[in-house]
This record gives sequence, structure tokens and C-alpha cells, in this order.
Amino acid sequence: MITEELQQAFLDVFGQKAEATFFSPGRINLIGEHTDYNGGHVFPCAITLGTFGAARKRDDQKLRFYSANFEDKGIIEVDLNHLVNDPEHNWANYPKGVLKFLKEAGHPIETGMDVYVYGNIPNGSGLSSSASLELLTGIIAEELYGLNLERLDLVKIGKQTENDFIGVNSGIMDQFAVGMGAENQAILLDTNTLKYQLAPLDLGDNVVVIMNTKKRRELVDSKYNERRAECEEAVSELQAGGVDIQTLGELDGQSFDQYGYLIKDANRLKRARHAVLENGRTMQAFAALEAENIPEFGRLMNASHVSLEHDYEVTGLELDTLVHTAWEQDGVVGARMTGAGFGGCAIAIVAKDKVDTFIKAVGDHYREVVGYDAEFYVAEIADGAKVLSRA
Ligand code: GLA
Repeated sequence: MITEELQQAFLDVFGQKAEATFFSPGRINLIGEHTDYNGGHVFPCAITLGTFGAARKRDDQKLRFYSANFEDKGIIEVDLNHLVNDPEHNWANYPKGVLKFLKEAGHPIETGMDVYVYGNIPNGSGLSSSASLELLTGIIAEELYGLNLERLDLVKIGKQTENDFIGVNSGIMDQFAVGMGAENQAILLDTNTLKYQLAPLDLGDNVVVIMNTKKRRELVDSKYNERRAECEEAVSELQAGGVDIQTLGELDGQSFDQYGYLIKDANRLKRARHAVLENGRTMQAFAALEAENIPEFGRLMNASHVSLEHDYEVTGLELDTLVHTAWEQDGVVGARMTGAGFGGCAIAIVAKDKVDTFIKAVGDHYREVVGYDAEFYVAEIADGAKVLSRA
């Protein structure tokens, strides 16, 4: 969406000009899944699918939110001094949470604002539309109220919103990717120390294809919180057995072999094994990319999916059908699910000149097996959340 369209849409809804327009991306994760709340590494990048915004400060205490994706909800009006989660407010709970925590952190937000939002991340696709909206709200507040903020502060406030306002116990990957992304770069982040490195996503003659299962994301949040709890339990068992760690990310494959016997339940052992080995694969994948060893990168992606399918058990028929079918196609370097799982999206690295036949073959097989169509997009790697224009 271009800024003139955003300005016009804002004017149509609120009857005045916006002070500025904004864009906040979605994200894909190349590898390092379900490692971010386990103190491990992740390797995501921001994408050009995302959330656009336009906003203007008000003189009173009203916050008014409008989303072109939820036209039936109309303008959602909220009192700046009463920021609590209200199911009636639907999508607007995300910006409410961000503003609440910005205020609580002492940032001067003394009057309300009008905010227009339009997102082109497919609904429920697991490409982080919520983190995109959280960071969008953060940069709108930063711009309109002239807040003095480090980008990492906004990233953390996005995560806080997810955890303490929405109730999903997620890690920091999504907000970090959306906040810190850079065009054509992937981010290797150590979630234990928050140290990170950008790496050019140079895949030679290949592109990243996003494959959307279009599966409804029911139960994702409760299953997600369950996996997290299983990993925490495994850490407690290891600690009780004398292993001096705070997170699974501190173990490597060898120490896991040594101490795994302390985990007394087969499921928890599988969950922990995934977290430990996936962390190792993520660091190896970063090294492979640096060395321009794309086949090795693809091999690690495939291994990641197998581990998510059998050890972490967060895939399901839809994701497995996409990924397994992708593996069989000509010109595919690697494929895996991305994000929380259970539905949402998978990614594949595919030779540029094979993309059309790839999409046709995987799409046809998916329809046969699952009964409805998947969707495919070639990923473009984008900058993190930013101001597009100032009036
Ligand atoms: C979701 C969460 C992230 C991360 C992934 C799995 O996207 O929001 O914090 O845990 O799942 O890797």
C-alpha cells in the first residue's frame, strides 16, 4: 500500500489528515524453531508482507482504532486511562497492550490518538501478524509522542503484550525479527544473551517460497503453552539431578546424551531433545550460509522439520503434506514448517526457474490430500518496522 492510499483511507475514516504513515513487517523463521523460550538461537527474517498504519494524535483521552481487515468492527474506541484486555475489542487489544506497557514504563503518552491499520499478512498464517501489529503500535507511539526509545525496548514491550496482556507465553523471536529486520538479511539471535548478527540471505539461484496451509489455528496457543511447560519441567528434572543450567539452550548434543537419563518421561525427553539439537542446527545453518553452502543449509532445514514432526510434535497433516511433497520436487534445496506450527506456514528453498512447477505440483498434491487449496508466495526480505512518510 502506498502512502497516498493510506492517507486517503485515514481521511475517509477519521475526517482529518494523518500525521504520519508506517509499515511493520511479518516474519518467517529460516531455522531455530521453539528454541527462543528455551534460551537457544533463532534465525528469522522480516518479510514484505506486513501491517500498514496511519495515525494522528488527539487532544483528548480517547484512543480510536480502525482496521480495514475488520471493517465490521468499525471504529473501536478506548479510554487511554483504562487499558485492560477486553474480548469485545478484538484485534485492538494488541495496540492497547503496547500502549499500556509503554505508559507503565514511564513514557509520556498523555493524550489519545486515531489509528488506521491495514494488514496483508494472510489471516492466521503464523507469519506473526500480532508481532507486526505490536511493533507498528510501538513506532506510531514513538513518532507521535516523540518518545525516546531504543528499538529493543519496543521489541520487549511487544513480547510483554503477548505474554501478559494477550496470554500467550511466547518467546522474543517474532518481535525481534519484526523490530530489527533488514532488507535481504536474516538475523541470528541468541535468545539467552540477545546478542545478534545479521547475515545476507544470499541463496544463489534460489528463492524462499512460503507455503500456507490455510489451516485454522485452533488450539495453537494452548498447545504452545503446553510445549513450553514440558520444556520447563525437563529443565527442573535436569537441575534436580545436579546439572547446572537455566535453559536447554545451554546444553549441546553431547551433554544431552550424558544427562538425558534424568528426564523421566518419554515425551519430555523428546521435547528437550528437539530444543537442544535444534539450537545446534541453527548455529550450523548460520555457518553454512556464511560459507555459501546452500545444500548444507537445506539439509539442516529438513532435519529441523523431522525433529518438529516426531520429537516436538507440532506439525500435523497439513504442514507435513506440504513439506514432504516439497522434498520430492526438482530444484528444492530444503523445506520445513516455520513459526509455532500446528497449521500456519512452511517454507521451501527452491531454484528460481523451478518455482512455477514446484507450486503447481505441491499445490495439486495438497488439494488431493487435504481437500482444499494451499497458498504460495515468494518471500521478499524486508526492513524492520519503520515510518513511511510524515505529513
Ligand atoms: C511463535 C512464537 C515465537 C516462537 C515460535 C516457535 O511464533 O511467538 O516466540 O516460539 O512460535 O519457534
